[in-house]
Amino acid sequence: MSRYSRSNIAALAGYMPGEQPRDEVLAKLNTNENPYPPSPRVLAALRQATNQSLRLYPEPLSDSLRSIAAEVYDVNRENILAGNGSDEILSIVLRCFVGQGDRVAFPVPTYSLYETLVMIQDGEQVCIDYPPDFALPRELHAARAAVTFLCNPNSPSGTLVSLPAIRELAGAVTGILVVDEAYIDFAEDQHASAITLVKSLPNLIVLRTFSKSFSLAGMRIGLAFASEELIAGMMKVKDSYNVNRLSLIAATAALQDLPWMKRNARRIQQSRMKLVEGLRRLGYFVYPSQANFVMAQKRGQKQNAMYEALKERRILVRYFDTQGLQDSLRITVGKPEEIEALLQEIASIQNRSAA
Ligand SMILES: Cc1ncc(COP(=O)(O)O)c(C=O)c1O
Repeated sequence: MSRYSRSNIAALAGYMPGEQPRDEVLAKLNTNENPYPPSPRVLAALRQATNQSLRLYPEPLSDSLRSIAAEVYDVNRENILAGNGSDEILSIVLRCFVGQGDRVAFPVPTYSLYETLVMIQDGEQVCIDYPPDFALPRELHAARAAVTFLCNPNSPSGTLVSLPAIRELAGAVTGILVVDEAYIDFAEDQHASAITLVKSLPNLIVLRTFSKSFSLAGMRIGLAFASEELIAGMMKVKDSYNVNRLSLIAATAALQDLPWMKRNARRIQQSRMKLVEGLRRLGYFVYPSQANFVMAQKRGQKQNAMYEALKERRILVRYFDTQGLQDSLRITVGKPEEIEALLQEIASIQNRSAA
């Protein structure tokens, strides 16, 4: 007898525009949101802030948030920029440092927005294939790029590059190195973050988001950590009031309740182990993930039929119809009951097609 109930899980699921309406989705495991709610302190702070003060503009430089973030991450406020999601900060970085024809390098496959932003900026993208084990490709060091992106842990593989390797890369590249740490709070090594390096490496920018570990994707808020000079330059490019009042309140309250975020990250780490074990039992190769998602692969076997069959059963996972990824699915680590539902449905789809 299954321990999950469709109606229970449906109530938890969100949806994307054009996809199935909220109450019809059984498990939404396609965009790496956190399955657990934000801290109650965040929700209380938001309720309290929803008043007539909304007629006022927000702080233009997000100073209150930057001050508390400086304490939490042991840097100075001048080393931090806040953005409307880390996506906005990525776009600010490109507008600051990349002009027409400038090279932007990154190992692939990775977060697809990098490519889009380079195109918008009319830059020249230099994509370097990851080796099969997703170790850092040496060619990246010599790409002579104005900006180099490293997503760490990487999406969609979930793999992590070590801090000494990042330090070496920052020393070798000719321009700016951006380390996108959207998923770093889900890594087992609590000291994997490159934020500690921004004081000593003048060409390093580290990005964080509140969308994943802090369960605040709907609030749109991210942070950049870098030298004072780089932050001052990016401040000039951002919109005047780029982060709204409620997002600032939410992020500040979230940083005041780190134990909540850490507890959820630990729960996700535990569920990740169960998901990996289950997928391996079902014949998938699963990359070692340090993120809140895993990449499951059946070498040489296209996974679009599995993706469609799961969607029909109201379970959403991510399928990339691009070369090199068609035999893989990226699956967000959901709640234990969502994982159980997913594994049961995969087993049932496999049995049906084997029959
Ligand atoms: C690697 C990576 N960087 C950045 C982002 C964007 O995060 P945000 O919601 O802060 O814009 C995502 C979102 O999925 C991501 O996967």
